[in-house]
Amino acid sequence: MPTILPVVYFKVKNMNAREVVKSHQNLKYQYDNDIADVFEEYLQTDYRRAAKELFVAAVGDVEGQRVLELSCGTGAIARGLKQAYPSASILGSDISSGMIALAREIEAAEPLGIQYLVGDAMTQGAVDGGNYDVVVAHCLFCYAKDKTELRSMAQTCYENLRPGGRLVLAVNNDVWTRTSIKRPYRAGVSIFQAPISGRNPVDTQEGEQCQCNVKLADGKTETSWHYHWGEQTCLQMLESVWFSQAKLEPFTLELVPDSQRFDSGYTSFVDFPFSSILPAWKPE
Ligand SMILES: C[S@@+](CC[C@H](N)C(=O)[O-])C[C@H]1O[C@@H](n2cnc3c(N)ncnc32)[C@H](O)[C@@H]1O
Repeated sequence: MPTILPVVYFKVKNMNAREVVKSHQNLKYQYDNDIADVFEEYLQTDYRRAAKELFVAAVGDVEGQRVLELSCGTGAIARGLKQAYPSASILGSDISSGMIALAREIEAAEPLGIQYLVGDAMTQGAVDGGNYDVVVAHCLFCYAKDKTELRSMAQTCYENLRPGGRLVLAVNNDVWTRTSIKRPYRAGVSIFQAPISGRNPVDTQEGEQCQCNVKLADGKTETSWHYHWGEQTCLQMLESVWFSQAKLEPFTLELVPDSQRFDSGYTSFVDFPFSSILPAWKPE
């Protein structure tokens, strides 16, 4: 981890994230608050590192291609792609100025040539001319409060691709959502995820707001809020904005080389993934 990470970046708001994010407007900017530095620490756990690396593997070869990452956060996926495919041109975009500030700090400390900008994936339209070969988004759709917002996100993905371009999303896994009751630590993290209504996770409704508590081995916690959209809803939304060949794919150990299949992060993640892969294509 770069030495700059302990620096406090997120005095952006004079408010307590824990108290305010339940309104949608504040939920959109929740990562501007004090969770971003803990989020970066969460990314270092074996479980979350595996999620990132398996997603990078699922995206696959982007050598020499223009790639846009929506909801890039602190840039973990963008860096993973750039390290794997150095000639890719990568632009990361996120609604949170705090997350982008941290992504830029990391880029300044360890330059890879990734560009970052602040933008709302529901409204930003074509970014830097659009026409990307590949658009990726790892955990974006779960921040749409209703189907109108979900559609706007899907449209932004579509609008930014060239004809024949490829989209790769990670969307929340239905099984994870519905069985997410308190679990023991696995690969460095314990996650408690449930509807804020108090409803049993097994009965989570479409569009329902959920709270996710991530607890790290050192006792630090990250609390964030999102909305539940089932995998099929996400897939249908892509089809409704004219993506083709959209299909849900599970994370499997086949995504990693044989030598790494016993890595406890990979096995823990594949055994109980919080997301599924959703690739789709913009027709020629
Ligand atoms: C769980 S983090 C994931 C970050 C990154 N994709 C990763 O996996 O490391 C979710 C990110 O989505 C961003 N986000 C939420 N709503 C967004 C929106 N409407 N447009 C762009 N980014 C958004 C948040 O600011 C946050 O950085």
